[in-house]
Amino acid sequence: MAKMWAGVTAGNTDPLADDFNSSLRFDKRMFRQDITGSIAHAQMLAAKGILSEDERDAMTEGLAGILEDLETGTLAIDENCEDIHMFVEQVLTERIGETGKKLHTARSRNDQVALDLRMYLRDENDEIRGLIRELLTVLADLAEEHKESIMPGYTHLQRAQPVSFGHHMMAYAMMLLRDLDRLKDCRKRTNVSPIGCCALAGTTYETDRVLEAGLLGFDGIALNSMDGVSDRDFAVEMLSALAVLMMHLSRLSEELILWASWEFRFITLSDAYTTGSSIMPQKRNADMAELIRGKTGRVYGELMGLLTTLKGLPLAYNKDMQEDKEGVFDACDTVKMCLRVLTPMLQSMQVNTGNMLLAAQKGFLNATDLADWLVKKGLPFRTAYKISGQLVRRCMETGQVLETLPLETYREFSELFDGDVYAAIDLRTCMEKRISEGGTSAASVEKQIAFVRKEIGE
Ligand code: ARG
Repeated sequence: MAKMWAGVTAGNTDPLADDFNSSLRFDKRMFRQDITGSIAHAQMLAAKGILSEDERDAMTEGLAGILEDLETGTLAIDENCEDIHMFVEQVLTERIGETGKKLHTARSRNDQVALDLRMYLRDENDEIRGLIRELLTVLADLAEEHKESIMPGYTHLQRAQPVSFGHHMMAYAMMLLRDLDRLKDCRKRTNVSPIGCCALAGTTYETDRVLEAGLLGFDGIALNSMDGVSDRDFAVEMLSALAVLMMHLSRLSEELILWASWEFRFITLSDAYTTGSSIMPQKRNADMAELIRGKTGRVYGELMGLLTTLKGLPLAYNKDMQEDKEGVFDACDTVKMCLRVLTPMLQSMQVNTGNMLLAAQKGFLNATDLADWLVKKGLPFRTAYKISGQLVRRCMETGQVLETLPLETYREFSELFDGDVYAAIDLRTCMEKRISEGGTSAASVEKQIAFVRKEIGE
């Protein structure tokens, strides 16, 4: 079929080529941004005397009608169009006649698509940050409730030292605060308007790019027209921020999966976020958490995909850049879905503090504190470490624990031991004594919670 851009060519492309070339399938989701952008463009053109006020009003009304009809589903998108930009312009011309053909004055699809994508990602960025804030609220609430619930803290997945479950939750909160920060930073560079760069070199019309950018809520304009149409850094940055976010969600999911296992039983996921097996009736699978962990891979892939697409592209616009959209759309959809499931999953899970405490009572989590106690009695840390290790080995051989090992046994290893040692190695003491900034004591966890709540504006 003959194209709107039929000029030097007849525009009679092969149907298979049309299909291959078309981005409508995936860029139709930017129809709101496209129409909003076009309304602003008509305003600017009229403000500069390039369009008459009547033409501007006809266009604005026509575009608003198209938006409404698309929102309500009364207007179907013509799948034969090459992209959403062509579709909107085509319908406008059908509806308002010749005036519609003036809309594309002083712009090009190259700056238009960059504009639409920036507006789309700006909204996604805001929405995702909102969802992260909701997750942070749940983490802060859990931390509040469990700032004194003892669990084993691990290194190498070996029991290491006692921590509170609240402290563990706040570790994830800190990661998510950095995610918020990264997204906010990325938004700054997203919110720069490319419109008016035209195809690549600017335009001979006396336009006002700053006015148009302002109408669309941008903080500034691209200062070089060639960069304006070929820059996709904002999409790369978004994907990169989302990849890091998914890495965090995946690590948390992995812990939830472990904790929900029969081996740990630190948490019980609510039935709403647990699936059964088609054959094993006893199963409570943490499918949602596994899927979050699994979906992390595709978001990483989308980041690599876009970086690779852009690598080696000469200036300015190249059709390769049409490949920027599907990956970043999918990444946004994926992240939003993950956050929407993870937040209520955490909120509704049962925390089995009894099992956590039982686990903390095994594994000699207080061995460091035992060594520290000897240091306070005057031994060098390395010597104290060795004695503590020997005592642990003795306990392992005889099936005892440090808390109930008789004082005579302690004294076989060092004359410095006295009855005070028992209070010092009590798990709660071990936890509460970790008062250094950022440590696991309840007071420190409270400070962390207050910080997180302040950051998210609660
Ligand atoms: N559909 C295109 C894209 O997504 C829009 C820009 C096309 N520009 C062009 N000169 N063919 O990138």
